Amino acid sequence: MDIKSQLLSLPPYQPGKPMEEVKKELGLERVIKLASNENPYGASTHVTAALQQSLTALSIYPDGYAALLREKVANFLNVQEEQLIFGNGSDEVIQFLCRALLTSEDNMVTADPTFSQYKLNATIEGAKVKEVALVNGVHDLEAMLAAIDEKTKIVWVCNPNNPTGTYVNETAFTRFLAQVPEHVLVVSDEAYYEYVDANDYPETIPLLVDYPNLVVLRTFSKAYGLASLRIGYGVGNANFIRSIDPVRPPFNNTSLAHIAALNALDDQAFITNCVQKNQVEMKKMESFCQKHQLTYFPSETNFLLIDFQRKGNDVFHYLLKEGIIVRSGEALGYPTYARITIGTEEENILLIQALEKMLQSMSVPVLTD
Ligand SMILES: Cc1ncc(COP(=O)(O)O)c(C=O)c1O
Repeated sequence: MDIKSQLLSLPPYQPGKPMEEVKKELGLERVIKLASNENPYGASTHVTAALQQSLTALSIYPDGYAALLREKVANFLNVQEEQLIFGNGSDEVIQFLCRALLTSEDNMVTADPTFSQYKLNATIEGAKVKEVALVNGVHDLEAMLAAIDEKTKIVWVCNPNNPTGTYVNETAFTRFLAQVPEHVLVVSDEAYYEYVDANDYPETIPLLVDYPNLVVLRTFSKAYGLASLRIGYGVGNANFIRSIDPVRPPFNNTSLAHIAALNALDDQAFITNCVQKNQVEMKKMESFCQKHQLTYFPSETNFLLIDFQRKGNDVFHYLLKEGIIVRSGEALGYPTYARITIGTEEENILLIQALEKMLQSMSVPVLTD
């Protein structure tokens, strides 16, 4: 069978190692997962209560239009309902955009390193991928602008960026947006939006009025704690959103995901509380790094990318034996780094203890190959 040739060069997505697998492999009772930037405090109790009541309707197809959730999110963001498209995670919205816009005649522009799914989906569509190196971990918007040509269909701004956690500020973003040609879609992927504390982070939703070529991505997987239910969305110009909707499978979200997201939005106190705890634990991790003279990228998210000055895979394996799963930077474009999700207070104590032990046992930086 002739599958698309571009698939042959694509590695399958490597997710954070599953907890149950690690428990079994290493015979551990307790495993802490700090690899995929999930919310360590779970989801709001509103969600769990509502889900229990919904378990009787499992035989009925979900509402493909997501009418209730659509209304709720539209009110929450103060946009029109027609401006929204829901995906099975924001991952799926990335796929919709690539599927709807890109052909083998086109190209897209993205930062490097950044979230892997932009490149993956564009490559599957046969489009050319133009990667522009980050500067000090931040998008180089000037160079990204310069990379745009008449064949460019999408430019991606992952803000804050995964895996660095850094952000593009309002001045830089709006200046950039004003210069991108109208035929190019600008995607602002804001998966970590709720965690951002910086005053000069751009509020992009109001910009949609003036920029029909802007799409904003948000998700319920991170601060809202619903990663397992797979629900995220895109917000854009109503005509544009309507015209790309045919690429969306008819029942791409589950009813349970709709109910969970509806109820999660109602409990903003839960989000505020999680974000505050994240900031406290983030500061502890930053102090740990400073104490050990380990550099890291300043993060506006719930993860920190730390340079351990040794192979990221060695850090990963050391912590794995201690029952802590992190993400090696080797597959993320930062070979001597590890990306670590900020956990609960208790998880952070265990992590810092394990890291102290690791640094003692590996006192001389080892960059073996
Ligand atoms: C920047 C970014 N965008 C999108 C996603 C996809 O999230 P989901 O598909 O769970 O909404 C992630 C997940 O890690 C991410 O880090």
